[in-house]
Amino acid sequence: MMKKIGSPEEYKSTYQFSIEKPEVFWASIADEFIWQKKWDTVLEWDFNTANTKWFLNGKLNITENCLDKYVELHPDKIAIIWEPNAIDEKEIKLTYKQLLQQVCKCANALLHQGISKGDRVCIYMPMIPELAIAVLACARIGAIHSVVFAGFSAKSLSDRINDMHCKMVICSDGAYRGNKIIAIKDVVDEAIQTCPSIKKIIVKKRTHSEIQWNSDIDIFWDDALENMSTVCPPAEMDSEDPLFILYTSGSTGKPKGVVHSTGGYMIYTAYTFLNVFQYQADDIYWCTADIGWVTGHSYLIYGPLLNGATSIMFEGVPTFPDAGRFWNIIDKYKVNIFYTAPTAIRSLMVYGDELIKQYDLSSLKTLGSVGEPINEEAWHWYHEKIGKMNCPIVDTWWQTETGGILISTIAYITPSIPGVATLPLPGIQPILVDTNGNELIEMVNEGLLCIKFPWPSIIRTTYNDHERCRLNYFSHFKGLYFTGDGCKRDAKGNYRIIGRVDDVINVSGHRIGTAEVENAINEHPRVIESAVVAYPHNIKGQGIYAFVICDSGITDTTQLADEIRNEVIKMIGPIAKPDKIQVVTGLPKTRSGKIMRRILCKIAEGESDNLGDISTLLDPDIVAEIKRGYLQNIV
Ligand code: WT7
Repeated sequence: MMKKIGSPEEYKSTYQFSIEKPEVFWASIADEFIWQKKWDTVLEWDFNTANTKWFLNGKLNITENCLDKYVELHPDKIAIIWEPNAIDEKEIKLTYKQLLQQVCKCANALLHQGISKGDRVCIYMPMIPELAIAVLACARIGAIHSVVFAGFSAKSLSDRINDMHCKMVICSDGAYRGNKIIAIKDVVDEAIQTCPSIKKIIVKKRTHSEIQWNSDIDIFWDDALENMSTVCPPAEMDSEDPLFILYTSGSTGKPKGVVHSTGGYMIYTAYTFLNVFQYQADDIYWCTADIGWVTGHSYLIYGPLLNGATSIMFEGVPTFPDAGRFWNIIDKYKVNIFYTAPTAIRSLMVYGDELIKQYDLSSLKTLGSVGEPINEEAWHWYHEKIGKMNCPIVDTWWQTETGGILISTIAYITPSIPGVATLPLPGIQPILVDTNGNELIEMVNEGLLCIKFPWPSIIRTTYNDHERCRLNYFSHFKGLYFTGDGCKRDAKGNYRIIGRVDDVINVSGHRIGTAEVENAINEHPRVIESAVVAYPHNIKGQGIYAFVICDSGITDTTQLADEIRNEVIKMIGPIAKPDKIQVVTGLPKTRSGKIMRRILCKIAEGESDNLGDISTLLDPDIVAEIKRGYLQNIV
């Protein structure tokens, strides 16, 4: 059994030991897993070249640790409870034994369709059980899964497929989302027009909508799995073999493919799930994230299954059929641990308490928050109305690149403080630096958050472009992993995350690069130039504000704004749609031609009285004009 921290003193001693003897510490945890062959070296690392390796030459298969292990121990325990979008459709419960059988059938089908170890498989699916099955089936045979959130556009999907040279896409015909039906297969069809590497598309029927069919490459899921054996030997994987690729936005260029390894990722997600949530054997656990994001990978699939837990997977949205759906599901399955995002909490707060009172939430023991800073109002509402003042909130700070939670309260063990991620988990060595990279030694401080020692699930590379990984994370400050977040530390060593210090916007917990949105806007034929910044948004945390220069002769700015939004939906997806668009005749630029975003941010925030020094601008008059336009021109 993996060691669970049981008291504040034990947290302190474990933490101390983990940083004094990290190799011994992590090896003792890794010892609890099934290895086909044990590692011979625990750790090799060099942040200067962005290289980290854990459990070198160890051989394993993560699905043996998620599934086979528990089929031995408790074959009939529920692994996944699937709650459909519609309230009157019946749920599906998959036991560990059934899940392993389905995973093996799918794994055999993948092999039969020509997928082998190391191949990249793109998964573009709604939250249906086959999504989890497909992910695990890839891992079973050593194919690298890359889930693309099913809200991304055909263009985004094809860019990702081409970056990875995927052979296969696994998708559904359509998706149910609230009262909408989304045409998933159509998006895939459009995307693969420009993807010559795709040889097969496996299609799970969900909505039974009409779809285009190309019998050369399309095959239905049920046909592909028919007659396949329910037994599939787990592929022997090296600890450092990639397990998956997940794309995420940075401050420049196209989204990058974050690569996670097999061994280290397994150890870290398993350990943090057990400890942060203080998971107990029969707990019912629900993470509301979509598997299209890292939270769904680490804390809906892998972390819970590695602990033999029961994990709920919800197909729908929090407001369908009404805004009580989350509370309904907690009551229905007697959920003990509930993990969601601040944006969901804020969007449900506005409906008041009546819907909550209709449900029994007394099963809840622990509440989690992830993806963005949680404001104190939302924290208190969550604590009082959902947790009834009885449940600690774990505010978990981490990133796609970190693979698992790095800074968080440990439920019932370490203090929970509104809006503060609090303390580093064992093995994590955060430091704050100033912009020159000098360590801020005094405890009470504010600076840039870096990590100075590797943990097992740290990013290994960015797919096909290791130099980009080095430049993005390891080149800002010598010898440090740079997170991109600003952060405050209090006298007791608690970390409060302020937010991104780069050109990354966090909209409803989703990461969007301003450059990506600008590129999409610039695709509009009447747009000459644009600049995108974030502004505070009541529900989403941050909203997207676009300043746009277009050619003369535009009279109907409302129509133009609609067209621009459609362009962004087409290029990226609805999550990146600008909330506000202001047409301007110029942008504040320095003499060297650089846009001064600081000024645009202030204007977008409505704080344009205090713009600081604008004397270095090429044309300072433009600022006054944009300020006037802020009040009149926003569409
Ligand atoms: C960025 C990472 C972690 C999985 C989901 C998001 C922000 C994340 C918190 C938190 C304050 C947070 C950071 C981080 N963030 N969690 N608890 N408190 N900020 O993963 O899309 O890779 O985004 O989300 O700014 O850098 P991601």
